[in-house]
Amino acid sequence: MSQESIIKRKTEHLDICSDDSPAFRHKSTGFENYDFRHFALTEVDLTRIDLSRKFFGFKSSFPFLISCMTGGTDEANNINLKLAETAASLNIPLGLGSLRYAIGTNGFDAQLSAIREKAGSVPVLGNLGAAQILGSDRVETVNSLIKKSGADVFVIHLNPLQELLQNGGEYNFRGLLKSIKDLVSEAKIPIIVKEVGSGIDGVTAKKLLKAGVSGIDTAGAGGTSWAGVEILRNSKSGNSDFWDWGIPTSICISETVSLKKDYDFTLIASGGINDPFTAAKALALGADFVASARIILHALNKNGSQGVVKLIREWFETVKRIMFLTGAQTLKEFDKKILIQTQK
Ligand SMILES: Cc1cc2nc3c(=O)[nH]c(=O)nc-3n(C[C@H](O)[C@H](O)[C@H](O)COP(=O)(O)O)c2cc1C
Repeated sequence: MSQESIIKRKTEHLDICSDDSPAFRHKSTGFENYDFRHFALTEVDLTRIDLSRKFFGFKSSFPFLISCMTGGTDEANNINLKLAETAASLNIPLGLGSLRYAIGTNGFDAQLSAIREKAGSVPVLGNLGAAQILGSDRVETVNSLIKKSGADVFVIHLNPLQELLQNGGEYNFRGLLKSIKDLVSEAKIPIIVKEVGSGIDGVTAKKLLKAGVSGIDTAGAGGTSWAGVEILRNSKSGNSDFWDWGIPTSICISETVSLKKDYDFTLIASGGINDPFTAAKALALGADFVASARIILHALNKNGSQGVVKLIREWFETVKRIMFLTGAQTLKEFDKKILIQTQK
């Protein structure tokens, strides 16, 4: 794909994601099927709740990270700079969007260094799509992107549905798991695998963990529909059969968390984490971190970096109140016991 087409596509993604039009239409995250178990006999000291959590050796102030979104255009670079400032203020990890545009060119090195610098000491997550790691040069490609972006952790996104609906998409993923395995054993930093809104379930997660990945980010259904984004981009097609395709985020989490007894990995809940109650339910179900994309973009567009900082601080004040009301002094105590499953 030419640099021009990548730029056009990135711009369209940002445009379409600037409002709620690409949200799932008839499917939700499934978190509405859970409620908190109120604990009248709480002995929690609200003022002493500590929400910090380790992320690959880094002490993040909140169990939250900014999901991978964008890069490669001037507008995208501006957004990344603001997100880097936000992540640094909140002391949380920052995801970058796919670095495909930076493969084989030095043209973006200065932009990427500036973002790295703005992020300060917080971890930066590099990102690349599954289609870009199928070739035999995968290890060199990823290692070179790690160097350019100063990434501390690298994320591979699986997006077969998006590829299927994209003009000129990749329709052949033979050898993908082996490619991931190779990358994990040879890349210089930990590898996380994520989806982009159709979800990673327990079976998929187990295969990835067996291959040695260090983290799973569910990116489940119920938030942004990437089928929706591609359908809106390609409005001529008018075919929205796959708009609501995917596994609800709550199901991804409840299945994948059971693998914790056999594998040591970081579990990130994303896909429709749009409010503090949903974030709290995902953490209680067993996610180590929660992450959001489109809602962060909206807050950034509306109120700038400080607006996002304020939003996330408010979210986690609410999470603390939920912990107080459910009797959890620590994130460790904030587990499945505090949830009631209202519907199976
Ligand atoms: C504007 C935009 C661009 C995105 N680009 C990428 C990307 O380059 N790489 C990736 O892994 N995910 C990308 N995503 C997907 C998100 O990381 C996330 O998995 C998905 O949007 C679901 O989260 P949400 O419901 O909070 O939006 C993008 C999301 C948005 C909104």
